[in-house]
Amino acid sequence: MSDFLPGLEGVAATKSAISFIDGEKGLLSYRGYSLETLAENSTFEETTLLLLEGELPTATKLNGFTGQLRKHYRIKYHIREMMRHFPATGHPMDMLQTAVSSLGMFYPGTECLTNADVCEDTNYIRNMTVNIIAQMAPLVAMWEHMRQGYDPIEPRDDLSVAENLLYMFTGKEPDPMMARIMDVCLILHAEHTLNASTFSALVSGSTLATPYSVISGAIGTLSGPLHGGANQQVLTMLKEIGSVDKVEAWVDGRLKNKEVIWGMGHREYKVKDPRATILSKLFGQLMEERGGTLDDTFEIAMKVEEVCADRLGHKGVYPNVDFYSGILYSEMGIPADQFTALFAVARSAGWLAHWREQISNNRIYRPTQIYVGSELRDYTPVSQR
Ligand code: COA
Repeated sequence: MSDFLPGLEGVAATKSAISFIDGEKGLLSYRGYSLETLAENSTFEETTLLLLEGELPTATKLNGFTGQLRKHYRIKYHIREMMRHFPATGHPMDMLQTAVSSLGMFYPGTECLTNADVCEDTNYIRNMTVNIIAQMAPLVAMWEHMRQGYDPIEPRDDLSVAENLLYMFTGKEPDPMMARIMDVCLILHAEHTLNASTFSALVSGSTLATPYSVISGAIGTLSGPLHGGANQQVLTMLKEIGSVDKVEAWVDGRLKNKEVIWGMGHREYKVKDPRATILSKLFGQLMEERGGTLDDTFEIAMKVEEVCADRLGHKGVYPNVDFYSGILYSEMGIPADQFTALFAVARSAGWLAHWREQISNNRIYRPTQIYVGSELRDYTPVSQR
């Protein structure tokens, strides 16, 4: 009989060369480059190419890839029409999952996936990868206007993914500092080893489903509050606390009721998540730029971090990436229910890198289970029960 490990904790489900976490030291690297280095020096486009192909690109390669992405920002008219019929109250993650899944009908060509154990049609793989990564951000930003009854803002192919995202959200020329912060947020969320949504992408990918199915499944998995949905919960929590002097009592009340503190804790990290450290530094820079004037939410967050370090530090529970990302997005004027969709925009890079790794050396996932149900028994007709 196999061992059963709840949540598959510690079970290696694949071999991967894409990213690495040292949870004791609080280190995360993509393809051997530390996250701090990439956040300092790279762009989302370059980091995406690094994740997908394993090496930092030459200038020519990067320009070619960036150009390809920009060419694909525009969303097909029919998809836009379909989105017009979505209920305005629908959650952006449901919108994104549905829209990405529908893209699969408009961009066919899956022969390489249906005929072989190993897909070698590099054109198909490259084109679908570019198409999905390019279209995620415009879909999210378009929805912001459409759900309010307005026409979406057209994408601009002279802007980076981060700049265009802010432009399509706000309709204004993106502020360079905000665009840089958005770019860093995209880098930080782009990849994170074998988390729940990436595992879901591997499982779907291993059946040779199309990349659109793979990514829409991963979006659904990311939407849960124990995964990507936590950043929205963090902001709601901080608003609910309301002021710095109420933090201690609020945290203690939650812990007494055995409720989680949103944005705290991580299966992999036993110290502060390195992404949370980078985000809190970015916040400091933004505060400096604005002469110290920022929403009180940041101060409440810092106090929650301090109180939780005291109450939960001995369990290795510290802030994770979701703790600060929501506060930053909210400073950019992005509504809370869109935070997880932004996470998905960034993570599409990591999901597709794992999808490519999976199909280059594929075996379908088929784990086992430990049956705990009843023995074989006789069927009783409904009239005799
Ligand atoms: N608030 C309060 N206590 C927490 C906690 C949190 N956010 N996260 C973990 N703990 C406690 C658990 O209750 C458990 O305590 P116990 O040993 O006394 O039972 C201990 O820390 C170990 O946690 P565990 O539930 O085993 O961790 P996990 O690896 O199964 O779960 C998460 C990881 C992320 C699901 C969990 O930390 C969580 O729910 N966090 C809040 C949601 C969140 O921010 N998710 C985003 C992740 S990026």
